[in-house]
Amino acid sequence: MHLYTKQSSVALFTVLLLAGCTVGTPGAGTTTTTTTTTTAATIANLQPFTNTNGSASTYTNAGEIDESGVFFQTLGTNGRTCATCHQASQGMSLSADTMQALFTSTNGTDPLFNAVDGANYPTAPTGDSASHSLILTKGLIRVAVELPLTAQFTITALHDPYGCAITIDAKTGQQIVSVYRRPLPTASLPYLSAVMWDTRETLQPLASAATLSANLNTDLTQQMLDAVTNHEQGTVTPTTAQIAAVLAVETGLFTAQASDSVAGSLTANGGKGGAANLAAQTYYPGINDPFGGNPQNDVFTPTIFTLYQSWQNSQNAAQASIARGEDIFNTAPLTITGVRGINDNTALGSPAALKGTCGTCHDAPNVGSHSLPLPMDTGTGRIAADETNAQIIAGVNQLTAADLPIFQITGCTDATGRPVTYTTTDPGKGLFTGLCADVNRVKTPVLRGLAARSPYFHNGSAGTIVELVNFYNARFQMGLNAQQKTDLENFLNAL
Ligand code: HEC
Ligand code: HEC
Repeated sequence: MHLYTKQSSVALFTVLLLAGCTVGTPGAGTTTTTTTTTTAATIANLQPFTNTNGSASTYTNAGEIDESGVFFQTLGTNGRTCATCHQASQGMSLSADTMQALFTSTNGTDPLFNAVDGANYPTAPTGDSASHSLILTKGLIRVAVELPLTAQFTITALHDPYGCAITIDAKTGQQIVSVYRRPLPTASLPYLSAVMWDTRETLQPLASAATLSANLNTDLTQQMLDAVTNHEQGTVTPTTAQIAAVLAVETGLFTAQASDSVAGSLTANGGKGGAANLAAQTYYPGINDPFGGNPQNDVFTPTIFTLYQSWQNSQNAAQASIARGEDIFNTAPLTITGVRGINDNTALGSPAALKGTCGTCHDAPNVGSHSLPLPMDTGTGRIAADETNAQIIAGVNQLTAADLPIFQITGCTDATGRPVTYTTTDPGKGLFTGLCADVNRVKTPVLRGLAARSPYFHNGSAGTIVELVNFYNARFQMGLNAQQKTDLENFLNAL
Protein backbone atom coordinates (compact mmCIF):
# COMPACT_ATOMS: atom_id res chain seq x y z
CA MET A 1 0.00 0.00 0.00
CA HIS A 2 1.02 3.58 -0.42
CA LEU A 3 1.05 5.84 2.56
CA TYR A 4 0.11 9.43 2.34
CA THR A 5 1.00 12.27 4.57
CA LYS A 6 -0.76 14.32 7.14
CA GLN A 7 -3.20 17.17 7.18
CA SER A 8 -4.78 17.69 10.52
CA SER A 9 -8.45 17.18 10.82
CA VAL A 10 -10.95 17.79 13.52
CA ALA A 11 -14.56 18.88 13.38
CA LEU A 12 -16.15 15.71 14.58
CA PHE A 13 -19.84 15.41 14.51
CA THR A 14 -20.62 12.33 16.44
CA VAL A 15 -22.94 9.75 15.07
CA LEU A 16 -24.27 7.92 18.04
CA LEU A 17 -25.45 4.41 17.74
CA LEU A 18 -27.91 4.00 20.51
CA ALA A 19 -29.27 0.66 21.41
CA GLY A 20 -32.87 0.38 20.28
CA CYS A 21 -35.64 -1.17 22.33
CA THR A 22 -35.00 -1.65 26.00
CA VAL A 23 -31.69 -3.23 26.73
CA GLY A 24 -32.15 -6.12 29.10
CA THR A 25 -30.66 -6.39 32.52
CA PRO A 26 -27.09 -7.61 32.53
CA GLY A 27 -27.10 -11.34 32.39
CA ALA A 28 -28.08 -11.63 28.77
CA GLY A 29 -24.80 -13.23 27.87
CA THR A 30 -22.79 -10.78 29.92
CA THR A 31 -21.51 -12.85 32.77
CA THR A 32 -19.62 -15.54 31.02
CA THR A 33 -16.15 -16.59 31.96
CA THR A 34 -15.97 -18.85 28.95
CA THR A 35 -13.52 -17.59 26.44
CA THR A 36 -13.22 -18.95 22.95
CA THR A 37 -9.86 -17.50 22.08
CA THR A 38 -7.08 -20.05 21.93
CA THR A 39 -4.14 -19.81 24.25
CA ALA A 40 -1.76 -19.08 21.35
CA ALA A 41 -0.24 -15.70 22.02
CA THR A 42 0.36 -14.82 18.39
CA ILE A 43 -1.04 -15.49 14.97
CA ALA A 44 1.86 -15.96 12.57
CA ASN A 45 2.03 -13.77 9.50
CA LEU A 46 0.01 -15.43 6.70
CA GLN A 47 -1.07 -18.28 8.99
CA PRO A 48 -3.60 -20.26 6.94
CA PHE A 49 -7.12 -20.88 8.26
CA THR A 50 -9.20 -23.54 6.54
CA ASN A 51 -12.51 -22.71 4.88
CA THR A 52 -14.85 -24.65 2.61
CA ASN A 53 -12.88 -23.65 -0.51
CA GLY A 54 -9.33 -24.06 0.78
CA SER A 55 -7.67 -21.64 3.15
CA ALA A 56 -7.40 -17.90 3.74
CA SER A 57 -4.73 -15.94 5.54
CA THR A 58 -4.02 -12.45 6.79
CA TYR A 59 -0.88 -10.47 6.10
CA THR A 60 0.14 -8.14 8.92
CA ASN A 61 2.71 -5.40 8.55
CA ALA A 62 3.66 -6.02 12.20
CA GLY A 63 5.23 -9.38 11.33
CA GLU A 64 2.75 -11.27 13.50
CA ILE A 65 -0.58 -10.60 15.17
CA ASP A 66 -0.13 -10.29 18.93
CA GLU A 67 -3.22 -11.78 20.55
CA SER A 68 -2.54 -10.02 23.81
CA GLY A 69 -2.86 -6.63 22.06
CA VAL A 70 -5.65 -4.10 22.61
CA PHE A 71 -7.69 -5.44 19.67
CA PHE A 72 -8.03 -8.67 21.69
CA GLN A 73 -8.69 -7.01 25.04
CA THR A 74 -12.01 -6.38 26.74
CA LEU A 75 -12.58 -2.62 26.56
CA GLY A 76 -16.17 -2.59 27.77
CA THR A 77 -18.41 -4.42 30.23
CA ASN A 78 -19.77 -7.43 28.35
CA GLY A 79 -16.67 -9.55 27.81
CA ARG A 80 -16.37 -8.77 24.12
CA THR A 81 -13.27 -7.65 22.26
CA CYS A 82 -12.85 -6.39 18.72
CA ALA A 83 -11.86 -9.94 17.79
CA THR A 84 -15.22 -11.28 18.98
CA CYS A 85 -16.66 -10.13 15.64
CA HIS A 86 -13.47 -9.68 13.62
CA GLN A 87 -11.71 -13.05 13.73
CA ALA A 88 -8.55 -13.89 11.84
CA SER A 89 -9.89 -17.41 11.25
CA GLN A 90 -13.01 -15.94 9.59
CA GLY A 91 -11.58 -13.36 7.20
CA MET A 92 -11.40 -10.66 9.95
CA SER A 93 -15.20 -10.83 9.96
CA LEU A 94 -17.57 -13.64 11.00
CA SER A 95 -18.56 -16.70 9.01
CA ALA A 96 -22.13 -17.77 9.65
CA ASP A 97 -20.98 -21.39 9.27
CA THR A 98 -19.30 -21.24 12.67
CA MET A 99 -22.10 -19.62 14.65
CA GLN A 100 -24.21 -22.65 15.55
CA ALA A 101 -21.24 -24.66 16.86
CA LEU A 102 -20.12 -21.76 19.06
CA PHE A 103 -23.64 -21.29 20.36
CA THR A 104 -24.01 -24.98 21.16
CA SER A 105 -20.60 -25.40 22.80
CA THR A 106 -21.11 -22.36 25.05
CA ASN A 107 -24.87 -22.78 25.62
CA GLY A 108 -25.22 -19.38 24.02
CA THR A 109 -23.13 -17.65 26.68
CA ASP A 110 -20.23 -16.61 24.47
CA PRO A 111 -20.09 -12.79 24.63
CA LEU A 112 -20.78 -12.68 20.88
CA PHE A 113 -24.38 -13.66 21.60
CA ASN A 114 -24.94 -10.83 24.07
CA ALA A 115 -28.46 -9.66 23.39
CA VAL A 116 -27.39 -6.02 23.14
CA ASP A 117 -26.84 -6.63 19.42
CA GLY A 118 -25.97 -10.31 19.10
CA ALA A 119 -29.61 -11.37 19.21
CA ASN A 120 -32.77 -10.50 17.30
CA TYR A 121 -33.83 -8.13 20.09
CA PRO A 122 -32.07 -6.81 23.20
CA THR A 123 -34.22 -8.59 25.77
CA ALA A 124 -33.67 -12.01 24.18
CA PRO A 125 -32.99 -14.70 26.81
CA THR A 126 -29.44 -16.05 26.98
CA GLY A 127 -29.14 -19.48 25.37
CA ASP A 128 -32.42 -19.26 23.44
CA SER A 129 -31.61 -20.11 19.85
CA ALA A 130 -34.92 -18.97 18.35
CA SER A 131 -34.36 -15.39 19.47
CA HIS A 132 -30.80 -15.53 18.13
CA SER A 133 -31.82 -16.79 14.69
CA LEU A 134 -30.35 -13.87 12.73
CA ILE A 135 -26.84 -14.27 14.10
CA LEU A 136 -27.02 -18.07 14.03
CA THR A 137 -28.11 -18.36 10.40
CA LYS A 138 -26.62 -15.24 8.82
CA GLY A 139 -24.04 -13.87 11.24
CA LEU A 140 -26.04 -10.64 11.49
CA ILE A 141 -25.46 -8.00 14.16
CA ARG A 142 -28.24 -5.59 15.13
CA VAL A 143 -27.30 -1.98 14.38
CA ALA A 144 -29.53 0.73 15.85
CA VAL A 145 -29.39 4.09 14.10
CA GLU A 146 -31.13 7.32 15.11
CA LEU A 147 -33.01 9.09 12.34
CA PRO A 148 -32.47 12.87 12.41
CA LEU A 149 -35.54 14.85 13.50
CA THR A 150 -35.08 16.85 10.29
CA ALA A 151 -35.43 13.78 8.04
CA GLN A 152 -37.03 14.48 4.66
CA PHE A 153 -39.07 11.30 4.85
CA THR A 154 -41.34 9.36 7.15
CA ILE A 155 -40.42 5.82 8.13
CA THR A 156 -42.78 3.18 9.45
CA ALA A 157 -42.38 -0.54 10.09
CA LEU A 158 -44.50 -2.73 7.81
CA HIS A 159 -43.15 -5.93 9.34
CA ASP A 160 -41.71 -6.07 12.84
CA PRO A 161 -40.87 -9.69 13.66
CA TYR A 162 -38.85 -8.91 16.81
CA GLY A 163 -40.80 -5.99 18.28
CA CYS A 164 -37.79 -3.83 17.86
CA ALA A 165 -37.91 -2.30 14.39
CA ILE A 166 -38.56 1.31 15.45
CA THR A 167 -38.46 2.71 18.97
CA ILE A 168 -38.24 6.25 20.29
CA ASP A 169 -35.30 7.82 22.08
CA ALA A 170 -36.98 9.21 25.21
CA LYS A 171 -34.41 12.00 25.52
CA THR A 172 -34.47 13.37 21.99
CA GLY A 173 -37.72 12.06 20.58
CA GLN A 174 -35.81 10.62 17.64
CA GLN A 175 -36.78 7.34 16.04
CA ILE A 176 -34.27 4.55 16.60
CA VAL A 177 -34.32 2.11 13.71
CA SER A 178 -32.91 -1.42 14.06
CA VAL A 179 -31.27 -2.93 11.01
CA TYR A 180 -29.22 -6.14 10.88
CA ARG A 181 -25.85 -6.12 9.18
CA ARG A 182 -22.82 -8.30 8.49
CA PRO A 183 -19.54 -7.36 10.19
CA LEU A 184 -17.24 -5.80 7.60
CA PRO A 185 -13.69 -7.19 7.67
CA THR A 186 -11.10 -5.20 9.60
CA ALA A 187 -8.70 -5.70 6.72
CA SER A 188 -7.63 -3.77 3.62
CA LEU A 189 -8.73 -0.63 5.46
CA PRO A 190 -6.22 1.65 3.63
CA TYR A 191 -8.16 0.81 0.44
CA LEU A 192 -11.50 2.12 1.72
CA SER A 193 -13.36 5.15 0.41
CA ALA A 194 -15.99 4.91 3.17
CA VAL A 195 -16.21 3.41 6.64
CA MET A 196 -19.22 1.18 7.52
CA TRP A 197 -21.85 -0.16 5.12
CA ASP A 198 -23.87 3.04 5.32
CA THR A 199 -20.67 5.20 5.37
CA ARG A 200 -21.69 6.77 8.69
CA GLU A 201 -18.23 6.75 10.27
CA THR A 202 -16.65 8.57 7.33
CA LEU A 203 -16.44 11.81 9.29
CA GLN A 204 -13.63 13.02 7.09
CA PRO A 205 -13.75 12.06 3.41
CA LEU A 206 -11.46 9.36 2.02
CA ALA A 207 -11.41 11.01 -1.38
CA SER A 208 -7.98 12.53 -1.83
CA ALA A 209 -4.47 11.12 -1.61
CA ALA A 210 -3.18 14.14 0.30
CA THR A 211 -5.59 13.63 3.20
CA LEU A 212 -6.21 9.88 3.06
CA SER A 213 -3.97 8.81 5.90
CA ALA A 214 -5.03 11.52 8.36
CA ASN A 215 -8.72 11.23 7.49
CA LEU A 216 -8.70 7.45 7.78
CA ASN A 217 -7.19 7.90 11.24
CA THR A 218 -9.96 10.30 12.24
CA ASP A 219 -12.67 8.00 10.90
CA LEU A 220 -11.31 4.82 12.45
CA THR A 221 -10.80 6.57 15.78
CA GLN A 222 -14.47 7.54 15.96
CA GLN A 223 -15.45 4.10 14.67
CA MET A 224 -13.50 2.47 17.50
CA LEU A 225 -15.01 4.74 20.16
CA ASP A 226 -18.49 3.85 18.93
CA ALA A 227 -17.65 0.12 18.73
CA VAL A 228 -16.52 0.15 22.36
CA THR A 229 -19.60 2.06 23.50
CA ASN A 230 -22.11 0.04 21.52
CA HIS A 231 -20.84 -3.48 20.84
CA GLU A 232 -18.78 -3.74 24.04
CA GLN A 233 -21.13 -1.65 26.22
CA GLY A 234 -18.13 0.33 27.36
CA THR A 235 -18.39 2.94 30.07
CA VAL A 236 -14.80 4.18 29.91
CA THR A 237 -13.41 5.95 26.87
CA PRO A 238 -10.35 4.14 25.46
CA THR A 239 -7.07 5.95 26.00
CA THR A 240 -5.12 7.59 23.21
CA ALA A 241 -2.59 4.79 23.47
CA GLN A 242 -5.30 2.12 23.18
CA ILE A 243 -6.77 3.81 20.12
CA ALA A 244 -3.36 4.12 18.51
CA ALA A 245 -2.65 0.45 19.18
CA VAL A 246 -5.88 -0.74 17.58
CA LEU A 247 -5.49 1.52 14.55
CA ALA A 248 -1.90 0.39 14.06
CA VAL A 249 -3.00 -3.24 14.04
CA GLU A 250 -6.14 -3.00 11.94
CA THR A 251 -4.73 -0.74 9.23
CA GLY A 252 -1.85 -3.20 8.74
CA LEU A 253 -4.08 -6.22 8.03
CA PHE A 254 -4.80 -7.59 4.55
CA THR A 255 -6.86 -10.76 4.19
CA ALA A 256 -7.20 -12.95 1.09
CA GLN A 257 -7.77 -16.53 0.09
CA ALA A 258 -4.40 -18.31 0.12
CA SER A 259 -5.13 -21.68 -1.40
CA ASP A 260 -7.95 -23.30 -3.30
CA SER A 261 -8.86 -26.87 -2.41
CA VAL A 262 -8.70 -27.90 -6.07
CA ALA A 263 -6.44 -25.35 -7.77
CA GLY A 264 -3.85 -25.37 -4.99
CA SER A 265 -1.72 -22.43 -3.87
CA LEU A 266 -2.99 -19.18 -5.32
CA THR A 267 0.58 -18.02 -5.85
CA ALA A 268 1.67 -21.13 -7.80
CA ASN A 269 2.45 -20.96 -11.53
CA GLY A 270 2.67 -17.18 -11.53
CA GLY A 271 -0.63 -16.68 -9.67
CA LYS A 272 -0.75 -13.37 -7.83
CA GLY A 273 -3.45 -14.21 -5.29
CA GLY A 274 -2.98 -14.20 -1.55
CA ALA A 275 -2.68 -11.58 1.16
CA ALA A 276 0.98 -10.60 0.71
CA ASN A 277 0.34 -9.45 -2.86
CA LEU A 278 -2.79 -7.64 -1.71
CA ALA A 279 -0.81 -5.72 0.91
CA ALA A 280 1.57 -4.50 -1.81
CA GLN A 281 -1.22 -3.27 -4.09
CA THR A 282 -1.06 0.33 -5.34
CA TYR A 283 -4.09 2.36 -4.28
CA TYR A 284 -5.10 5.98 -4.08
CA PRO A 285 -8.55 7.59 -3.90
CA GLY A 286 -10.00 7.73 -7.39
CA ILE A 287 -7.67 5.11 -8.85
CA ASN A 288 -9.28 3.63 -11.98
CA ASP A 289 -12.47 5.63 -11.47
CA PRO A 290 -14.82 4.97 -14.41
CA PHE A 291 -16.63 8.31 -14.12
CA GLY A 292 -13.78 10.75 -14.69
CA GLY A 293 -12.77 11.08 -11.05
CA ASN A 294 -9.23 9.71 -11.36
CA PRO A 295 -6.93 12.53 -10.16
CA GLN A 296 -4.20 11.21 -12.48
CA ASN A 297 -6.61 11.24 -15.44
CA ASP A 298 -5.65 7.70 -16.44
CA VAL A 299 -8.21 6.02 -18.67
CA PHE A 300 -10.50 3.60 -16.83
CA THR A 301 -9.83 -0.07 -17.49
CA PRO A 302 -12.51 -2.68 -16.76
CA THR A 303 -9.65 -5.15 -16.19
CA ILE A 304 -9.88 -4.84 -12.41
CA PHE A 305 -8.30 -8.12 -11.41
CA THR A 306 -4.97 -9.28 -12.85
CA LEU A 307 -4.24 -12.05 -10.37
CA TYR A 308 -4.66 -15.14 -12.47
CA GLN A 309 -3.75 -14.11 -16.01
CA SER A 310 -0.85 -16.57 -16.04
CA TRP A 311 -3.35 -19.39 -15.45
CA GLN A 312 -5.29 -18.77 -18.63
CA ASN A 313 -3.75 -21.74 -20.43
CA SER A 314 -3.06 -23.82 -17.34
CA GLN A 315 -3.22 -27.61 -17.71
CA ASN A 316 -4.75 -27.61 -14.21
CA ALA A 317 -8.50 -27.43 -14.92
CA ALA A 318 -9.28 -25.66 -11.64
CA GLN A 319 -6.67 -22.97 -12.29
CA ALA A 320 -8.00 -22.47 -15.82
CA SER A 321 -11.54 -22.08 -14.48
CA ILE A 322 -10.42 -19.43 -11.98
CA ALA A 323 -8.64 -17.57 -14.78
CA ARG A 324 -11.77 -17.69 -16.97
CA GLY A 325 -13.80 -16.41 -14.01
CA GLU A 326 -11.43 -13.47 -13.61
CA ASP A 327 -11.93 -12.71 -17.29
CA ILE A 328 -15.72 -12.80 -16.84
CA PHE A 329 -15.46 -10.34 -13.94
CA ASN A 330 -13.34 -8.05 -16.11
CA THR A 331 -15.19 -8.30 -19.42
CA ALA A 332 -18.72 -9.76 -19.19
CA PRO A 333 -21.15 -7.04 -20.26
CA LEU A 334 -23.98 -6.12 -17.93
CA THR A 335 -26.74 -3.51 -17.98
CA ILE A 336 -27.14 -1.33 -14.92
CA THR A 337 -30.70 -0.10 -14.39
CA GLY A 338 -32.59 1.08 -11.34
CA VAL A 339 -29.46 1.55 -9.22
CA ARG A 340 -29.85 4.56 -6.96
CA GLY A 341 -26.53 6.37 -6.87
CA ILE A 342 -25.86 5.63 -10.55
CA ASN A 343 -28.98 5.67 -12.70
CA ASP A 344 -30.44 8.65 -10.80
CA ASN A 345 -27.09 10.46 -10.56
CA THR A 346 -27.33 13.82 -12.33
CA ALA A 347 -23.53 14.16 -12.33
CA LEU A 348 -23.48 11.05 -14.52
CA GLY A 349 -26.32 12.33 -16.71
CA SER A 350 -28.92 10.12 -15.00
CA PRO A 351 -28.50 7.26 -17.48
CA ALA A 352 -31.65 5.11 -17.70
CA ALA A 353 -29.46 2.13 -18.55
CA LEU A 354 -25.68 2.04 -18.27
CA LYS A 355 -23.67 -0.65 -20.05
CA GLY A 356 -20.82 -1.76 -17.85
CA THR A 357 -19.03 -4.64 -16.16
CA CYS A 358 -18.53 -5.75 -12.56
CA GLY A 359 -15.70 -3.20 -12.47
CA THR A 360 -17.96 -0.24 -13.17
CA CYS A 361 -18.74 -0.40 -9.45
CA HIS A 362 -15.87 -2.54 -8.12
CA ASP A 363 -13.16 -0.40 -9.73
CA ALA A 364 -10.14 -0.49 -7.34
CA PRO A 365 -7.47 -2.72 -8.95
CA ASN A 366 -7.14 -6.17 -7.33
CA VAL A 367 -9.22 -4.97 -4.35
CA GLY A 368 -12.73 -4.49 -5.74
CA SER A 369 -13.93 -1.64 -3.56
CA HIS A 370 -15.09 1.59 -5.22
CA SER A 371 -12.18 4.01 -5.13
CA LEU A 372 -14.31 7.11 -4.52
CA PRO A 373 -17.27 7.48 -2.14
CA LEU A 374 -20.34 6.46 -4.15
CA PRO A 375 -22.77 4.39 -2.09
CA MET A 376 -25.41 2.62 -4.16
CA ASP A 377 -28.68 0.75 -3.96
CA THR A 378 -28.45 -2.33 -6.15
CA GLY A 379 -31.69 -3.67 -4.66
CA THR A 380 -30.32 -6.22 -2.18
CA GLY A 381 -32.60 -4.94 0.58
CA ARG A 382 -35.72 -4.63 -1.57
CA ILE A 383 -38.87 -6.76 -1.33
CA ALA A 384 -39.77 -8.35 -4.69
CA ALA A 385 -43.52 -8.06 -4.12
CA ASP A 386 -43.25 -4.28 -3.78
CA GLU A 387 -41.05 -3.65 -6.83
CA THR A 388 -41.97 -2.78 -10.40
CA ASN A 389 -38.49 -2.98 -12.01
CA ALA A 390 -38.38 -6.48 -13.54
CA GLN A 391 -34.62 -6.77 -13.04
CA ILE A 392 -34.80 -5.89 -9.34
CA ILE A 393 -37.55 -8.49 -8.91
CA ALA A 394 -35.56 -11.13 -10.80
CA GLY A 395 -32.43 -10.37 -8.79
CA VAL A 396 -34.06 -10.32 -5.36
CA ASN A 397 -35.79 -13.61 -6.17
CA GLN A 398 -32.36 -15.28 -6.27
CA LEU A 399 -31.59 -14.22 -2.69
CA THR A 400 -32.51 -15.85 0.61
CA ALA A 401 -32.84 -12.98 3.04
CA ALA A 402 -33.59 -13.79 6.67
CA ASP A 403 -36.86 -12.70 8.28
CA LEU A 404 -35.89 -9.05 8.74
CA PRO A 405 -37.97 -6.03 9.72
CA ILE A 406 -39.42 -4.29 6.65
CA PHE A 407 -39.68 -0.53 6.54
CA GLN A 408 -41.76 1.79 4.40
CA ILE A 409 -40.37 5.19 3.51
CA THR A 410 -42.74 7.87 2.24
CA GLY A 411 -42.42 11.58 1.55
CA CYS A 412 -39.78 11.39 -1.17
CA THR A 413 -40.21 12.23 -4.85
CA ASP A 414 -38.54 10.88 -7.97
CA ALA A 415 -36.69 12.96 -10.58
CA THR A 416 -39.98 14.03 -12.17
CA GLY A 417 -41.41 15.19 -8.85
CA ARG A 418 -43.82 12.29 -8.44
CA PRO A 419 -44.17 10.79 -4.95
CA VAL A 420 -42.18 7.60 -4.48
CA THR A 421 -42.43 5.00 -1.72
CA TYR A 422 -39.57 2.68 -0.76
CA THR A 423 -40.03 -0.68 0.88
CA THR A 424 -36.76 -1.96 2.31
CA THR A 425 -35.09 -3.99 5.03
CA ASP A 426 -32.34 -1.37 5.43
CA PRO A 427 -32.54 2.32 4.49
CA GLY A 428 -28.71 2.47 4.42
CA LYS A 429 -27.14 5.91 4.35
CA GLY A 430 -30.57 7.58 4.37
CA LEU A 431 -31.07 6.47 7.95
CA PHE A 432 -28.40 8.67 9.45
CA THR A 433 -28.56 11.57 6.98
CA GLY A 434 -32.36 11.70 6.73
CA LEU A 435 -32.02 12.53 3.03
CA CYS A 436 -34.27 10.99 0.39
CA ALA A 437 -31.33 10.85 -2.02
CA ASP A 438 -29.46 8.52 0.35
CA VAL A 439 -32.20 5.97 1.00
CA ASN A 440 -31.04 2.34 0.65
CA ARG A 441 -27.54 3.30 -0.44
CA VAL A 442 -24.59 1.30 0.92
CA LYS A 443 -20.93 1.25 0.04
CA THR A 444 -19.30 -1.07 -2.49
CA PRO A 445 -17.16 -3.31 -0.27
CA VAL A 446 -13.73 -4.88 -0.68
CA LEU A 447 -14.02 -8.23 -2.48
CA ARG A 448 -11.08 -10.11 -0.93
CA GLY A 449 -11.18 -13.05 1.49
CA LEU A 450 -14.79 -13.83 0.54
CA ALA A 451 -14.66 -17.60 1.03
CA ALA A 452 -13.78 -17.13 4.70
CA ARG A 453 -16.81 -15.01 5.57
CA SER A 454 -20.13 -15.98 4.04
CA PRO A 455 -22.93 -14.87 3.70
CA TYR A 456 -22.72 -11.77 1.50
CA PHE A 457 -24.19 -8.31 1.08
CA HIS A 458 -24.83 -5.97 4.01
CA ASN A 459 -27.83 -8.02 5.16
CA GLY A 460 -26.43 -11.48 4.40
CA SER A 461 -29.13 -11.97 1.75
CA ALA A 462 -26.79 -13.88 -0.57
CA GLY A 463 -26.26 -17.04 1.46
CA THR A 464 -23.52 -18.34 -0.83
CA ILE A 465 -21.37 -17.21 -3.76
CA VAL A 466 -23.71 -19.24 -5.99
CA GLU A 467 -26.70 -17.16 -4.89
CA LEU A 468 -24.66 -14.00 -5.30
CA VAL A 469 -23.73 -14.84 -8.90
CA ASN A 470 -27.35 -15.77 -9.66
CA PHE A 471 -28.42 -12.39 -8.25
CA TYR A 472 -26.04 -10.46 -10.51
CA ASN A 473 -26.84 -12.59 -13.54
CA ALA A 474 -30.54 -11.78 -13.20
CA ARG A 475 -30.24 -8.27 -11.81
CA PHE A 476 -27.98 -6.91 -14.55
CA GLN A 477 -29.14 -9.18 -17.42
CA MET A 478 -25.80 -10.89 -17.88
CA GLY A 479 -27.03 -14.04 -19.59
CA LEU A 480 -24.24 -16.21 -18.17
CA ASN A 481 -24.38 -19.92 -18.99
CA ALA A 482 -23.79 -22.64 -16.39
CA GLN A 483 -20.05 -22.92 -17.12
CA GLN A 484 -19.55 -19.16 -16.95
CA LYS A 485 -21.35 -19.02 -13.60
CA THR A 486 -19.16 -21.81 -12.24
CA ASP A 487 -16.01 -20.05 -13.45
CA LEU A 488 -17.06 -16.74 -11.88
CA GLU A 489 -17.87 -18.52 -8.60
CA ASN A 490 -14.49 -20.26 -8.59
CA PHE A 491 -12.79 -16.93 -9.18
CA LEU A 492 -14.69 -15.12 -6.42
CA ASN A 493 -13.84 -17.94 -4.02
CA ALA A 494 -10.15 -17.49 -4.93
CA LEU A 495 -10.11 -13.81 -3.94
C1 HEC B 1 -20.63 -7.41 18.10
C2 HEC B 1 -19.81 -7.49 16.94
C3 HEC B 1 -18.73 -6.45 16.74
C4 HEC B 1 -17.72 -6.08 17.61
C5 HEC B 1 -17.49 -6.55 19.03
C6 HEC B 1 -16.90 -5.13 16.89
N1 HEC B 1 -17.38 -4.96 15.62
FE1 HEC B 1 -16.53 -3.88 14.14
N2 HEC B 1 -18.16 -4.19 12.95
C7 HEC B 1 -19.24 -4.96 13.29
C8 HEC B 1 -20.30 -4.75 12.32
C9 HEC B 1 -21.67 -5.42 12.33
C10 HEC B 1 -19.81 -3.82 11.37
C11 HEC B 1 -20.58 -3.22 10.19
C12 HEC B 1 -21.67 -2.30 10.78
C13 HEC B 1 -22.27 -1.32 9.80
O1 HEC B 1 -21.70 -1.11 8.73
O2 HEC B 1 -23.30 -0.71 10.13
C14 HEC B 1 -18.45 -3.51 11.79
C15 HEC B 1 -17.59 -2.65 11.11
C16 HEC B 1 -16.31 -2.35 11.51
C17 HEC B 1 -15.37 -1.55 10.75
C18 HEC B 1 -15.63 -0.91 9.39
C19 HEC B 1 -14.92 -1.62 8.24
C20 HEC B 1 -15.32 -1.04 6.91
O3 HEC B 1 -15.00 -1.65 5.87
O4 HEC B 1 -15.98 0.01 6.85
C21 HEC B 1 -14.23 -1.43 11.51
C22 HEC B 1 -12.98 -0.68 11.14
C23 HEC B 1 -14.46 -2.15 12.74
N3 HEC B 1 -15.72 -2.71 12.69
C24 HEC B 1 -13.55 -2.20 13.80
C25 HEC B 1 -13.88 -2.69 15.06
C26 HEC B 1 -13.07 -2.49 16.24
C27 HEC B 1 -11.77 -1.71 16.27
C28 HEC B 1 -13.70 -3.11 17.27
C29 HEC B 1 -13.29 -3.16 18.73
C30 HEC B 1 -13.18 -1.88 19.39
C31 HEC B 1 -14.91 -3.72 16.72
N4 HEC B 1 -14.98 -3.42 15.39
C32 HEC B 1 -15.81 -4.49 17.45
C33 HEC B 1 -19.32 -5.80 14.38
C34 HEC B 1 -18.50 -5.72 15.50
C1 HEC C 1 -24.07 -1.20 -9.97
C2 HEC C 1 -22.91 -1.42 -9.16
C3 HEC C 1 -22.41 -2.85 -9.01
C4 HEC C 1 -22.14 -3.77 -9.99
C5 HEC C 1 -22.33 -3.62 -11.50
C6 HEC C 1 -21.63 -4.93 -9.33
N1 HEC C 1 -21.60 -4.73 -7.98
FE1 HEC C 1 -21.03 -6.09 -6.58
N2 HEC C 1 -21.60 -4.80 -5.10
C7 HEC C 1 -22.09 -3.52 -5.30
C8 HEC C 1 -22.57 -3.00 -4.05
C9 HEC C 1 -23.18 -1.62 -3.82
C10 HEC C 1 -22.38 -4.02 -3.10
C11 HEC C 1 -22.86 -4.01 -1.65
C12 HEC C 1 -24.33 -4.38 -1.72
C13 HEC C 1 -24.97 -4.73 -0.40
O1 HEC C 1 -24.24 -5.06 0.54
O2 HEC C 1 -26.19 -4.70 -0.31
C14 HEC C 1 -21.76 -5.13 -3.79
C15 HEC C 1 -21.38 -6.33 -3.18
C16 HEC C 1 -20.72 -7.37 -3.83
C17 HEC C 1 -20.21 -8.55 -3.18
C18 HEC C 1 -20.37 -8.91 -1.71
C19 HEC C 1 -19.20 -8.51 -0.85
C20 HEC C 1 -19.44 -8.75 0.62
O3 HEC C 1 -18.51 -8.57 1.40
O4 HEC C 1 -20.57 -9.07 1.05
C21 HEC C 1 -19.62 -9.31 -4.16
C22 HEC C 1 -18.90 -10.64 -3.96
C23 HEC C 1 -19.80 -8.62 -5.41
N3 HEC C 1 -20.46 -7.45 -5.17
C24 HEC C 1 -19.38 -9.10 -6.65
C25 HEC C 1 -19.77 -8.54 -7.87
C26 HEC C 1 -19.62 -9.19 -9.16
C27 HEC C 1 -19.00 -10.54 -9.37
C28 HEC C 1 -20.16 -8.34 -10.09
C29 HEC C 1 -20.33 -8.56 -11.59
C30 HEC C 1 -21.05 -9.79 -11.94
C31 HEC C 1 -20.65 -7.18 -9.38
N4 HEC C 1 -20.41 -7.33 -8.04
C32 HEC C 1 -21.26 -6.10 -9.98
C33 HEC C 1 -22.15 -2.85 -6.50
C34 HEC C 1 -22.05 -3.47 -7.75
